Amino acid sequence: MRGPFRFLTAGESHGEALVAVIDGVPAGVPLAEADIDADLARRQRGYGRGGRMKIERDQVHILSGVRFGATLGSPITLQIANRDWENWKAAMGVAPPPPGAAQKQVTRPRPGHADLAGAMKYGHHDIRNVLERSSARETTARVAVAGVAKRLLAEFGISILSHVTEIGPARIAPDLDLPWEEIRRRAEASEVRCADPAVEAAIIAAIDDARAKGDTLGGVFEVVALGCPVGLGSYVQWDRRLDGRLAQAVCSIQAIKGCEFGLGFETARRPGSAVHDEILFDAESGFKRASNRAGGLEGGVTNGQPVIVRAAMKPISTLRKPLRSVDVATKEPVEAVVERSDVCAVPAAGIVGEAMVALVLADAFLEKFGGDSLVEIRRNHDAYLDSLKSW
Ligand SMILES: Cc1cc2nc3c(=O)[nH]c(=O)nc-3n(C[C@H](O)[C@H](O)[C@H](O)COP(=O)(O)O)c2cc1C
Repeated sequence: MRGPFRFLTAGESHGEALVAVIDGVPAGVPLAEADIDADLARRQRGYGRGGRMKIERDQVHILSGVRFGATLGSPITLQIANRDWENWKAAMGVAPPPPGAAQKQVTRPRPGHADLAGAMKYGHHDIRNVLERSSARETTARVAVAGVAKRLLAEFGISILSHVTEIGPARIAPDLDLPWEEIRRRAEASEVRCADPAVEAAIIAAIDDARAKGDTLGGVFEVVALGCPVGLGSYVQWDRRLDGRLAQAVCSIQAIKGCEFGLGFETARRPGSAVHDEILFDAESGFKRASNRAGGLEGGVTNGQPVIVRAAMKPISTLRKPLRSVDVATKEPVEAVVERSDVCAVPAAGIVGEAMVALVLADAFLEKFGGDSLVEIRRNHDAYLDSLKSW
C-alpha cells in the first residue's frame, strides 16, 4: 500500500492460523467480528469448490486495536484459525519431528504453481514448504483485512460489489443493462455469483463437464465500487495513479492473469468517438457523464463514476487428471501431485477481487482525507465535497 493503510499477512495453509496486522486505521470506526465473518463466508461459497471448503468455516478473532465495538487508532491484529490444524500438527510442527518419525515430503512439483520455482529459489527439497504459503488460502487473511477497509469506506457511502461475467465458454452479454444493486442482489443469490440466470445454468453445466473430464476452468469477474468521490489517486506521479495501484493489487491475487478498467481491451478496437465519456452539466446535479466506458478512472484519478475493474483468472492448475512433471528428488518423469483442489474458483476469486479493490480504495481515501479519527476524516471529507458544489 502506498498511503496510510498498511497491512501484512502471515500463516501457512495447514499451519495453526492465518494472521494479519493492520496499521493506519483511524480511531472511531465501528467494527465487529461479524462484519468480517460475512465476507469470509462469501469467499468460501461457490459451485466448483473442493473438499477443503467444507472443513474450514472461517471466523475472525480480533486480537488488538478494537475496544467496545470501535477501532482505537492502534494496530489491529486479526487471527483466523485453520480448523484442519489438529490433523496437521505433526506435519507442520514448529519443533523438529522426533527422531525416526516418518516424514512424507512433496517432491512432485505441479505445473502452474509456485512449486518448482519456489523450491529452487528458497532451496527447499520438500515442496510443502512452498505450497503452504503460495496457496490461495492466504487470500482469507486479505479478505479479513478488507472487511476493516470496507467498514471504513461504508461510513462514507462507498460500497463494493462483484459478479462473475464469464466461466469457460459461458459469458454474460456485455450490454447487460441492470442497475448495480440488482446485479449485486442476483450475484449474491447465485451459486456461481452470476447475475444472468441463463448464463448461470450454462456455467454450472460447464463446471460439471470439466469435473467429469478431470479438468478445470477459469473465467472473468467484475468488481464495482459505488460512491467513490472525485479525486482519489493522482495523475502527478506514476506510482500514485489509482488505475496502476488497482491493477497491481488485483493482479497480485493467485491465478489472476490480466485486468482491465471499464471497456478495457475493447477500447483498443473502437474509434475514439465510441470510447470516451462526454461531459455534461446541469445546475442541479453539476457535472455528469453521458456514459462510463472509462470505468470511473481518468488520468489515474476517480471521476465520480462507478469504478469498474475486471480480472481474468486462469483455470485451476491442480488437475485430477495430472499434468506431466519431474520428481525433484529422483529427476524421474512423474505425474504432478494432486492436492485436494477446486474445479473452478472464479466466484470466490471475485470476493478476493472486492477485497483488493477495497484495500486500495481505503488507502487512497485516507491519503486524500487523512486524519487520526473518523470525526476528523469526516470533517475533511465533507468540507471537500462542499467545496466541489460551488466549484
Ligand atoms: C480463491 C482462489 C482459490 C484457488 N483454489 C485453488 C485450488 O483449489 N487449487 C489450485 O491448484 N489452485 C487454486 N488457486 C490458484 C493458485 O493459488 C495459483 O494458480 C497458484 O498459487 C499459482 O499462482 P499464479 O497462478 O498466480 O502464478 C486458487 C486461487 C484463488 C484466487
